Amino acid sequence: MKIIRSVSAMKKWGELNGGDCGFVPTLGALHDGHVSLIRRARKENRKVAVSVFVNPLQFGRRQYLLYPRDIKGDAEIALKAGADVLFAPSARDIYNPGFEGRIILPQLFRTLQSQRLEWHFKGVLVVVMKLFQIVRPGRAYFGLKDPHQLALIEKMAADFDVPVVIRKCPTVRERGGLARSSRNALLTADERRAARVIYKALMIGKNELKKAGVARALAEMKKTISSEKTARIEHMEIVDPLTLSPLDGRSKEALIFAAVSIGGKRLTDNVRFRLAR
Ligand code: PAF
Repeated sequence: MKIIRSVSAMKKWGELNGGDCGFVPTLGALHDGHVSLIRRARKENRKVAVSVFVNPLQFGRRQYLLYPRDIKGDAEIALKAGADVLFAPSARDIYNPGFEGRIILPQLFRTLQSQRLEWHFKGVLVVVMKLFQIVRPGRAYFGLKDPHQLALIEKMAADFDVPVVIRKCPTVRERGGLARSSRNALLTADERRAARVIYKALMIGKNELKKAGVARALAEMKKTISSEKTARIEHMEIVDPLTLSPLDGRSKEALIFAAVSIGGKRLTDNVRFRLAR
């Protein structure tokens, strides 16, 4: 496996291999969730590229500095999972001085209900668009773990005619249900155990939604999460996964999303399922 650090070298690789390449963009600290994306990309493409880039545009300064970084470990994992190239650029090379590109999707941004999230996803869209231009993949692989990110990236690719197929891949979970995430590396053993409450609450929410509707489902989820001392709810919602808007008579599926801080570390998870009508 080749490790490419510079944007110009990666562009050359992209020009030669891009169309026939499966791409897995990541923030690094690779875990089983990423491995499942890389393996799927390996099955479906001639070449596989993985990027590791902690994007300063999508994090506050503290979170940016705290984000776990382990390029050596990432390279080993990516190689074992079947990547041909690991692209690990510097922030200065991705965003040259004076860079001010922005992408705005007003309708979807309105559903995010928080300026902080809107700011975060603006940063995500910019970097994903840049990575698509550099790597030029035929297919790109994203986990269903972040449904807002997925909906925004799909819309961006469609609106800007980016010639990439977005592949949506299931969330990989630890025993006990905790969704795999690079942030789990920041949790103590006790916090990791406490974090299981998120998936438990989502399952309760799913059950209650079917039986008793949205308000009751949210109330029961809140009760479940509040039973865990170190957990603080940041955001919870039940929406249509396609529009990210409240469920209505046309919704075929429901998405229950929770962002919960465990010992000050923000974790997110969701379940998506068909509605019986
Ligand atoms: O989900 C992630 O890992 C990141 O948001 C992404 C898509 C790599 C952009 O930095």
